[in-house]
Amino acid sequence: MRASTVYDSSLIQLPKTYNQKGNITAINNLEGIIPFTIDRVYYLYDIPGGEGRGGHAHKSLKQLIIAASGSFALTLADGTTKQTFNLSKPYFGLYMPAGLWRELHNFSSSAICLVLASEKYDEDDYIRSEQEFNRYKQNHDSSAIRRSG
Ligand code: TYD
Repeated sequence: MRASTVYDSSLIQLPKTYNQKGNITAINNLEGIIPFTIDRVYYLYDIPGGEGRGGHAHKSLKQLIIAASGSFALTLADGTTKQTFNLSKPYFGLYMPAGLWRELHNFSSSAICLVLASEKYDEDDYIRSEQEFNRYKQNHDSSAIRRSG
């Protein structure tokens, strides 16, 4: 498998059912909207102004991140390139493959960061040091190139 880069992440427009009394967005497994099966849902809320979250990478977890309320920014890095996405619409999700460093920042007050995840919580899947992440990417990238070459 090719090592992931920030260009493998993408903003996905989600279905939206309009209603004068309020809209609904629904995501079902196996509908082809997101490129993984959902095994866990969690959300961040009550985030104090100026606080940052994230600051880690995952070895195999895939995620879709949605600003269910308010707004925040998400900066992704792959060891070479960084890219920042501003999320503020509940009918858009940012798809993140495994193997990307992420930082969440610029939370608006009362923001809710909704996360759909491909696997259950597993601390062993986390890389929490940026130095270790850069080493992991170097090893992973060179072994991926060896496998494909
Ligand atoms: P973490 O993913 O490190 O949060 P963030 O990167 O957004 O700051 O999670 C913080 C703690 O919350 C983690 O150490 C354990 C707990 N946690 C769970 O128990 N289950 C979960 O699904 C998640 C995401 C976190």
